[in-house]
Amino acid sequence: EKGGYPDFMMKEIHEQPRVVRDTLAGRLTGGTLTIDELDLSHEELNLIDRVYVIACGTSYHAGLVAKQLIEGWARIPTEVEVASEFRYRNPIITPTTLVVAVSQSGETADTLAAIRDARVRGAKVFGITNVVGSPVARESDGVIYTKANKEIAVASTKSFLGQVVSLTLLSMLLAQTKGKLTTSQIKLLFKELADTAEQIETILSDTTAIDEAALACKDACSSLFIGRGLGSAICAEGALKLKEISYLHAESYPAGEMKHGPIALIDEGFPVVAVATQSPTYEKTISNLQESRARGAMVVAIATEGDTEIKKHAEHVIYIPKVRDCFSPITASVPLQLFARAIAVARGCDVDQPRNLAKSVTVE
Ligand code: M6R
Repeated sequence: EKGGYPDFMMKEIHEQPRVVRDTLAGRLTGGTLTIDELDLSHEELNLIDRVYVIACGTSYHAGLVAKQLIEGWARIPTEVEVASEFRYRNPIITPTTLVVAVSQSGETADTLAAIRDARVRGAKVFGITNVVGSPVARESDGVIYTKANKEIAVASTKSFLGQVVSLTLLSMLLAQTKGKLTTSQIKLLFKELADTAEQIETILSDTTAIDEAALACKDACSSLFIGRGLGSAICAEGALKLKEISYLHAESYPAGEMKHGPIALIDEGFPVVAVATQSPTYEKTISNLQESRARGAMVVAIATEGDTEIKKHAEHVIYIPKVRDCFSPITASVPLQLFARAIAVARGCDVDQPRNLAKSVTVE
């Protein structure tokens, strides 16, 4: 049932091009995006003036991506919060607040409690879940199903991709509704979004550089993941993947924070994994790599195909196809999944069933 792959995680990583295709199927008709399941009129959508994305773990990291896309495209103030914090504070909610609850399993206790609380306070709640008929689906006003199909490995991979693609669509829909993206912009973005399926296939077709970097890092006790903008969100997910399946400590920081503390950790051979793809802050990230290497760091950089400059600043470069920055979370997270898995395998860990963790967390 592993389809010839050594473990479920590897099988699920390889399903991601299909997840992208299935998530996008039928969503664009003549330049208009449709997410009918949301069950909100154009007017109601147009009135939304605040968004909270509520989730836990990996799903929370998909929310970090959504915040940047919703604010960037639709210009709606958006907060991302872990459900266990949201449910115990007093968030500002009005009838024009949209709460987006993201949960692979659809049964995470804190996320469900946050949904109930948000609805009592009068918010509209959209669920984004992978499990049809799950409590999150039942208790939300509208639901988008990620098309990942059953995910068995405890570490989320394909469901994360499905969440990011679904949230990207939702962000585009909000921007379209608010008149912030034109029909031709939507069409172009949608095409490029669809192209990421093939770009993931390219990444999966040759993992040599990823495996080499993983072998070089496998005996470390700790590591840092750094990036800026969307790269910072991807790093948060990359670090979680690594720690949960390999038990190698990994911490993510926005690269600009290095001088405010984490750079003190760096000594000879300390792994610094950087998302350094083409983006408006590329040069700034390069400076952070130089500062890290000057203190002995072993830099592993995820970079854009064709970037020769990066080789001067990293011991290991993992190239990925060029995409528009807004779609980099979809492509750049794939090598980080493979990197975490390769380290876990090299350290003799049970990739699919990491210690102390359960696939769904139905108690607080
Ligand atoms: O089912 P959910 O998306 O609500 O689960 C949230 C987290 O428990 C989950 O993402 C967890 O962090 C995964 N093990 C990450 O790989």
